[in-house]
Amino acid sequence: MAGYLNETDFVMVEEGFSTRDLLEELTLGASQATTGKVAAFFVADLGAVVRKHFCFLKCLPRVQPFYAVKCNSSPGVLKVLAELGLGFSCANKAEMELVQRIGVPASKIIYTNPCKQIAQIKYAAKHGVQLLSFDNEMELAKVVKSYPSAKMVLCIATNDSHSLSRLSLTFGASLKSCRHLLQDAKKSHVDVVGVSFHIGSGCPDPQAYAQSIADARLVFEIGAELGHRMHILDLGGSFPGVEGAKVRFEEIASAINSALDLYFPEGCGVDILAKLGRYYVTSAFTLAVSVIAKKEVLLDQPGREEETGSTPKTFVYHMDEGVYGIFNSVLFDNTCPTPVLLKFELLMGTRMLLTLFVTPAALPLDDTGDSAFGLSAIYQGLQCDHIQGGVHSLAVETDIV
Ligand SMILES: Cc1ncc(COP(=O)(O)O)c(C=O)c1O
Repeated sequence: MAGYLNETDFVMVEEGFSTRDLLEELTLGASQATTGKVAAFFVADLGAVVRKHFCFLKCLPRVQPFYAVKCNSSPGVLKVLAELGLGFSCANKAEMELVQRIGVPASKIIYTNPCKQIAQIKYAAKHGVQLLSFDNEMELAKVVKSYPSAKMVLCIATNDSHSLSRLSLTFGASLKSCRHLLQDAKKSHVDVVGVSFHIGSGCPDPQAYAQSIADARLVFEIGAELGHRMHILDLGGSFPGVEGAKVRFEEIASAINSALDLYFPEGCGVDILAKLGRYYVTSAFTLAVSVIAKKEVLLDQPGREEETGSTPKTFVYHMDEGVYGIFNSVLFDNTCPTPVLLKFELLMGTRMLLTLFVTPAALPLDDTGDSAFGLSAIYQGLQCDHIQGGVHSLAVETDIV
């Protein structure tokens, strides 16, 4: 083992303790002594991160995993992943510094942002981070000037039209422009050593990987024709982080393995890697928050009043965390946390204790591809219609009943 772990970084709990047991213990303890003073908190099961890693190695034996630091940069996660031998995909200087500070060597870091600040390109050069992504001429020109010995990975666009988070709207060169970019690099004496792509987070179609792997093969051929020695294929991320995702990880792995056998067969001299984010951490992290307000609201459903003689009502619960904080992935990545009711008790005759825990999951899509809940249902800090049903909301404890 590389020695990234430090016992003082973790609070270890006995074996046989589940996340649920731990949450129950923490929230009940807090409610007796410190009503209203408990901030939202996470419980992380780092064992789940380790289990994900072994599942990855089993299902995709030819692929070296890198971790996308931006997804969750908790020191515990980074150290466990470093100890397991992962490489790290960093989007900026701060992320490179973070992983280097825990002892990750520069050879295990890829600077994957296709649009980089010159000062940060220089930082990568100074600190030995050799692999950098690019997808346009201007980026190439910056690297030629500031770090000509860098090894470049050409990031290609994908068809991510069905993905929840469409990264190719912003990043990735079109196939048409690849020859030109590779020629430019050759002229400037910059080595292009590989191809990367990202099919967009939350992609429902495993064949999207197969298509992009086929596209990458074409780019490798153009590169070879122009004299680039390309030996890295980066499959990006989008592997689901939770059980019960629309497309199972095993299905995706099977589609990737078949495409690799076809386009990059074993022994072809190409190192295959992937940059995973949510796959490693989503199921490991559980969040507990407090309900801070409750409101009765009318359900605006045309025609219902005439049918039933009254306007249907519902309750909206507000929490001490929202989309400007921990739940920002609701806006940025179209995710929707799934709450589970943990406790529902009457304390001291008057106070209701509502405890749920929440695990993030992909937002379910309806048949039209729209989110089933809609953002309005989540805006004011996940709302809850029927707290006993354990849907849409979560809480640690509350005085509001
Ligand atoms: C370049 C890059 N690679 C990998 C990832 C990880 O994606 P995911 O969480 O879908 O695995 C991201 C996330 O935004 C990314 O931008």
